[in-house]
Amino acid sequence: MRRFRYGLDPLCLLSCGLYAACRWLIRPHTSAVFWHSYSTDYLFIPAALPLMLWVYRRLGLRAHDQFPDWPEIGLHFVVWSIAAEGVAPLLFKSATGDWWDVVTYAVGAVIAGGWWTLASRPGFDLLAPHYTWMEKVLAGPRLQRCRTAWIDELAGTRRLLVAGVGHGPALAAVLRRNPDLRVTCVDASARMLTVARRRARRAGLDMSRLEFVHASLPAWRPPEAHYDAIATHFFLDCFPPRELAAVIATLARAATPGALWVVSDFALPARGPARWRARAVHKLMYLFFRLTTGLPARRLTPPDTLLAAHGFRLQQRATQDWGLLHADLWGRQG
Ligand SMILES: C[S@@+](CC[C@H](N)C(=O)[O-])C[C@H]1O[C@@H](n2cnc3c(N)ncnc32)[C@H](O)[C@@H]1O
Repeated sequence: MRRFRYGLDPLCLLSCGLYAACRWLIRPHTSAVFWHSYSTDYLFIPAALPLMLWVYRRLGLRAHDQFPDWPEIGLHFVVWSIAAEGVAPLLFKSATGDWWDVVTYAVGAVIAGGWWTLASRPGFDLLAPHYTWMEKVLAGPRLQRCRTAWIDELAGTRRLLVAGVGHGPALAAVLRRNPDLRVTCVDASARMLTVARRRARRAGLDMSRLEFVHASLPAWRPPEAHYDAIATHFFLDCFPPRELAAVIATLARAATPGALWVVSDFALPARGPARWRARAVHKLMYLFFRLTTGLPARRLTPPDTLLAAHGFRLQQRATQDWGLLHADLWGRQG
């Protein structure tokens, strides 16, 4: 579950900025009723609620750091509407009750509640329904070429573990090419697994050869020395260095002594324009995934030394797209 950051929440910061701009930049230069009466009311919940919740948390009146939920938002909306539009006009001569203000508070509450509901969703759930078309539009067949580069080398393996399977784009190809293979697919996103399962069913795959596990690495504990092949496609790049080491250690423990490991990932070419281009692509990509999924990594950490530390040796490497992408086949001697 992602942590709510109270006053540092992006919606709260934006709303406070809009409030300040309205109050001190726009109002002094206009007499229009909208700017003086309604222009900041819709900001009440998105700007003030996070700050109030932070105070409650400090006072021990809030027991967690989760995003504001609908009952919390609703309660504050109702109490504030009654206080500002019902009670205040009875107590203060300068205050006037205007029930249109209540409508404006409600609009702000609904927008903020919708945003916080989406933002609180863990990881890739939000992207899951869009992942397939986004990949088609942004990368064409390039990523799939990497995922399927070494499926012939898996001939003879019996148990494949696909970590961070996502929308399951390579499952059909790998099962068709290797009829004796059984595949365990693990992913932290329940919606990604739903998409992968639906996709496998539509492709007419034998579902008894597939197992789907909803779990997060490195906490998930797979059986030890169980899988004779591991696949991580565009997954290891999700982790910062320390977490990556733990994820690779967990997967390496699950691999048999002579296991193969196929890795597809982004890469940083050694020098020149290809390197500059790759740097720009990485920056955009990490920014996008950090904003939409809360991805913990800020940049790519090459997994090579970690794989080597667990006894794996690079057997083949195919690069494409000016070195931006690579597909590796690693193996361990049994
Ligand atoms: C960039 S997507 C790649 C998906 C897929 N392998 C592909 O080739 O398109 C990364 C996937 O890893 C999953 N993931 C990220 N962190 C994870 C973790 N700690 N444990 C398990 N799965 C994770 C995400 O939910 C997502 O489905």
